[in-house]
Amino acid sequence: MINRLSFIKFIFICFIVICNFNTYGQERIIKSFNDDWKFARFGSMSDGSTLEEPKNIDEIGFNDANWRLLNLPHDWGIEGPFRANLPNQTGKLPWAGIGWYRKTYKSPQEDKGKRVFIEFDGAMSGTKVWLNGGYVGEWPYGYASFRLELTHHLKVGEENTIAVRLNNKAESSRWYPGGGIYRNVRLVKTNPIHITHWGVFVTTPKVNKEQATVHIKTDINEEISNLEILHEIYTKGANPTKVEAQKTAFKQDCDIIINSPKLWDLDAPNLYEVKTTLIKKGKVLDTYSSTFGIRTIEFTANSGFLLNGKKVHLNGVCQHHDLGPLGTAVNVRAMERQIEILKSFGTNAIRTAHNPPAPEFLDLCDKMGMLVQVEAFDVWQKKKVKNDYASLFGAWHEKDLRAMVKRDRNHPSVIMWSTGNEMIELRDAQDAPMAVMLADIIRSEDNTRPTTFGNSRPEATTNGFEKTADVFGLNYKPHLYAEVHKANPNLPIYGSETASTVSSRGEYFFPVSENKKEGSGGYFQVSSYDFSAPNWAYRADLEFEAQEKNPYVFGEFVWTGFDYIGEPTPYNKDKTNLLNFTDPAEKTRMKEALKKLGKNIPPRSSYFGIVDLCGFPKDRFYLYQAHWRPNFPMAHILPHWNWEERIGKVTPVFVYTSGDEAELFLNGKSLGRKKKEKYKYRLRWNEVVYKPGTLKVVAYKNEKVWAKSEIKTTKKASHIKLSPDRTRITANGQDLSFVTVKIIDKNGLTVPRTHNIVEYSVSGPGEIIAIGNGDPTNHESFQATKRKVFNGLALVVIRSKKGEEGKIVLHAKSSGLKTTNTEIAATLKK
Ligand code: GAL
Repeated sequence: MINRLSFIKFIFICFIVICNFNTYGQERIIKSFNDDWKFARFGSMSDGSTLEEPKNIDEIGFNDANWRLLNLPHDWGIEGPFRANLPNQTGKLPWAGIGWYRKTYKSPQEDKGKRVFIEFDGAMSGTKVWLNGGYVGEWPYGYASFRLELTHHLKVGEENTIAVRLNNKAESSRWYPGGGIYRNVRLVKTNPIHITHWGVFVTTPKVNKEQATVHIKTDINEEISNLEILHEIYTKGANPTKVEAQKTAFKQDCDIIINSPKLWDLDAPNLYEVKTTLIKKGKVLDTYSSTFGIRTIEFTANSGFLLNGKKVHLNGVCQHHDLGPLGTAVNVRAMERQIEILKSFGTNAIRTAHNPPAPEFLDLCDKMGMLVQVEAFDVWQKKKVKNDYASLFGAWHEKDLRAMVKRDRNHPSVIMWSTGNEMIELRDAQDAPMAVMLADIIRSEDNTRPTTFGNSRPEATTNGFEKTADVFGLNYKPHLYAEVHKANPNLPIYGSETASTVSSRGEYFFPVSENKKEGSGGYFQVSSYDFSAPNWAYRADLEFEAQEKNPYVFGEFVWTGFDYIGEPTPYNKDKTNLLNFTDPAEKTRMKEALKKLGKNIPPRSSYFGIVDLCGFPKDRFYLYQAHWRPNFPMAHILPHWNWEERIGKVTPVFVYTSGDEAELFLNGKSLGRKKKEKYKYRLRWNEVVYKPGTLKVVAYKNEKVWAKSEIKTTKKASHIKLSPDRTRITANGQDLSFVTVKIIDKNGLTVPRTHNIVEYSVSGPGEIIAIGNGDPTNHESFQATKRKVFNGLALVVIRSKKGEEGKIVLHAKSSGLKTTNTEIAATLKK
């Protein structure tokens, strides 16, 4: 018996030893460092008061016993409250101020002899780090990923205290930036000889159907003798298989041929992974894993953008980084949902306006087949707001640009690097060399993708700036495409920012006006007939037309895919603030309201989105879907059909369809069949006289029935309907279910003009982490459990609890409506 046990023990020990000497050993240790931080705010506080920042917070002995315990990622701004006197431009949320995070943890023996780094994917902003009272380093840009070395101050085997100070200056952003360590943090432990940070760069210089050459460039911190390097390439996905491997004496550059490569494409986003191992005399010194894709990209001045040799027109959107009611704290499922929604109306490209995104965002784009333009900055040396990046630009632009490119250059989804957006410098020919200097920094780290920037200045199409980018982006200049193309016949051009149509989901104002400056009404809302836009902007249709008429333009990036927090144009006190109101009584009322409220006008999030802040489609969603997904049968009717005060009044009806013709019926009676004319993207029945009942559309394509849809005047609101986007989530403390709340009538139809207050509670292993309704003027907390619905809809976001399986039940109640609940299963298995 003893012998048998000893034998088993022996085998077990052998197994451990083999594992340790195996080339896939844990020589590089990567550990999440997100949990159990103590947090406190100082300086400008969330309630508007000021609290003096104590001294010595960086020291080990500082007493943080009363500080709040939390896990990262964390956005302190989204916790609110909304404050009427905070700027609309940045969301009326208290993100400005000083925040400290402290964490005391035991460094394990495994740290002995290692170099230990802390990696931040992003912290907003002005990060400074201390370990055991010793200063470790800093990185001010809130959107940069960076790492700092802890080794010199680390006490191995003992308790260590790390302290992180952030300082968000007021007036440092044109939108809601969030505040806090809002992206992931990890510890990375390496041997003294190791692959440097983002030190593996994979390119695919030669690609055809039969073969792809994979070029792998590996940077190590120090070359020593007898070093070997092993690269093993696997397919990435559910069942990874080894494709190729190569082991040689260490060399920085290696080429590996893959036969019959599976290309990365929008419909088939095939990925590979290369595991790189550094070996010295049979002992593994470091391992490093890089995901990449095999694809070719080409930007041409006449044939547009080619992916794997085929033309792809970029149907792009600009996106800010916030996740709506969840704020800026990174959550993979929330980002995945955003991309799913964007794809559903035909988006195939995203511009990360105006800063580098979270790394997980690009992982998702790789996996989901989405093209990305990664953008570095909103300003260069000349500022747009008082305390923005301009003051950091001189000392930091090079480090920030290199960090951006090195981190993201293996992503197949990334196809362009943007050095900035609408920089003030564009006005002045003298500053053109700055654009070249920035592009050159990028090219020195990656010359496989073009550089670009978003240009809003007509003069920068002729003052020399147009010669500084590999591909030229025009913001809101469809009328200049032909001219710029003619003057620069070899320059690929595109709409880097387009449209900027504004609307509020489910709001319609009458009479309908096509004047872009009209269409506002209600209590600071904008009509959803999709004609309204600020003075520099225009409706979606005009860009569609310009893109069609100038087919060398390789695509557009609409401002924006999702509504975002902050910048509530036309109600952000900029010059378009006083849009004309079509109804004179409304106009007078609004003028008075504006005068009285002054700076305190309520809007706090944008009206630009094709979908609202919660991800609910506005009407425009269908306008884009009709144009961007021509083969997807659909027809959408607007407005809703609950207008008891409009009986007998003209109430125009529009249909957005991917068909080419449609017939509209009101209560069974045809209102006529209409055909889309060239360069007209909506079908309009302008003279419909409102009568309650059913509006039905039958759309045709090539004379055949293509899609049908109908809307009805509803009965009174009587029930609440809860629809989770997923009824099973993973019990990892991260996964989410997004529950759509609808106020419905007895027949199950959503009642469009309801604003009932609904109260939520949850039982089981889940929690409500955010609620929202898509109303840009609403000041109820995103973190409350009770709020109004907006035009029939609201959103509740449920998060699982780490390690806790079971049935999560969400209950909803509202006075006068039938109470309801819905179930979501939390399971440990994926
Ligand atoms: C652009 C700017 C964007 C946003 C947009 C609103 O000029 O680049 O960041 O402000 O206007 O229309």
